[in-house]
Amino acid sequence: PLKLAIIGGGSSYTPELVEGVLKRLDRVPVKEMHFVDVEAGQDKLEIIEALTRRMVEKAGADITIKASLDRRAAIENADFVMTQFRVGGLQARANDERIPLKYDVIGQETTGPGGFAKALRTIPVILDICKDIEELAPNAWMLNFTNPAGLVTEAVQKYSKVKTIGLCNVPVSMKMMIAEMMDCLPEELSLECAGLNHLVWAHRAWLDGKDITAEVLKKVGDGANFSMKNIFEEPWDPAFLKALGAIPCPYHRYFYQTDAMLAEEKESSQNEGTRAEQVMKTEQELFDLYQNENLAEKPEQLEKRGGAYYSDASLNLVDAIYNDLKTIHVVNVRNNGTIATLPDDAVIECSSVIGSWGARPLMIGELSPSVIGLIGQVKAYEQLTVEAAVLGDYDKGLMALANNPLVPDISKAKAIFDDILKTNHDYLPQF
Ligand code: NAD
Ligand code: G6P
Ligand code: MN
Repeated sequence: PLKLAIIGGGSSYTPELVEGVLKRLDRVPVKEMHFVDVEAGQDKLEIIEALTRRMVEKAGADITIKASLDRRAAIENADFVMTQFRVGGLQARANDERIPLKYDVIGQETTGPGGFAKALRTIPVILDICKDIEELAPNAWMLNFTNPAGLVTEAVQKYSKVKTIGLCNVPVSMKMMIAEMMDCLPEELSLECAGLNHLVWAHRAWLDGKDITAEVLKKVGDGANFSMKNIFEEPWDPAFLKALGAIPCPYHRYFYQTDAMLAEEKESSQNEGTRAEQVMKTEQELFDLYQNENLAEKPEQLEKRGGAYYSDASLNLVDAIYNDLKTIHVVNVRNNGTIATLPDDAVIECSSVIGSWGARPLMIGELSPSVIGLIGQVKAYEQLTVEAAVLGDYDKGLMALANNPLVPDISKAKAIFDDILKTNHDYLPQF
């Protein structure tokens, strides 16, 4: 029987995770779930705890539910530690989105300077969590969902002994949307995914032994739904997609269509607010629903958030590890030579075989010059960000931003960095 520790249990995504657990009890016998949060999240945590109890009761499941601020108690003897926390809450995210916009730079939770700031706040906390895991649950797997997920997973792999896999819902969402386009079941599709988190391509897509990559690109170019709830659906240029020859993820719009995405962000930040500001309202609506004592399931309204299929992605991983399934999932994993131009210890997002020993990335062969430059540059930014976050090193931080393809000028890199350090002062003990 399994014990799950969920760090950031007060997240509005938690009912999704609970649903994923309840759906799979025959294969994944969870006996205890311990949700942890911090003082600022205590009210949300209590609401989640009560809703979870109702969901578990309705399912007739025998699971011990605990919710507390005691992280060590939650981690002790856990089999899986799921991290889904947000240091500084949504207000910090709103700052991450607004600061770059002042300098005409993309303001986004995970890509560009916003993701950089989130990484600086998150990495010291997650490495602290890792110390607890090393001491209290050394055999546990950490499934990291906390953004920027690839970069944070790289910090954990480089600076702790914890077994970890990073996880994002974008690859599974891409598969779902391609299945919709092709009018087939998702499990009939094979996607060869490789890149970095929020910078992943499906280099080839297969259906019934047929390479359907060009067909999918044509449909995406013709306007088939291919985005996430949190990303503006700027239309793709069909000629560009044909030339690229690989299926980009929805986040690629920030890199390939920077001007249009920036213009949209500037406009919406002045009207309905940045994404964080919109999510604050959605979150309020969700917690109003969660408090209803007649509710004993995940409400539909959660679909307004960007994290669709989160629970399938994470619980399928638990299933594959626990039952040694050796099935293929797209995860954030140590490169180990898979993308030949990147260091072995870089974390990449890649189709991987998952079994009781963890994740082994699948070799997809040499990547084309069409994509390799962007991957290399973003990975350099990520490596420098990990070092800046761990060491509190100003020079590394400046070079990280200077190397981010979304930051066009070092004078902007410096101004944005200084603004980030000042605004986040309370959350950056390392600087
Ligand atoms: P949220 O703002 O609701 O935060 C979740 C909880 O974390 C809150 O209750 C907060 O109090 C708590 N928290 C803050 N600091 C903590 C700490 N030090 N220890 C424990 N708990 C702490 O955030 P959310 O919108 O639910 O998102 C949660 C996380 O999941 C974020 O990091 C987000 O970026 C990430 N996310 C990732 C993906 C993905 O694809 N990987 C998808 C969606 C969300
Ligand atoms: C996407 C991404 C996540 C991101 C989320 C934001 O699905 O994969 O990494 O954090 O959506 O959604 P939100 O509703 O918080 O804007
Ligand atoms: Mn993601």
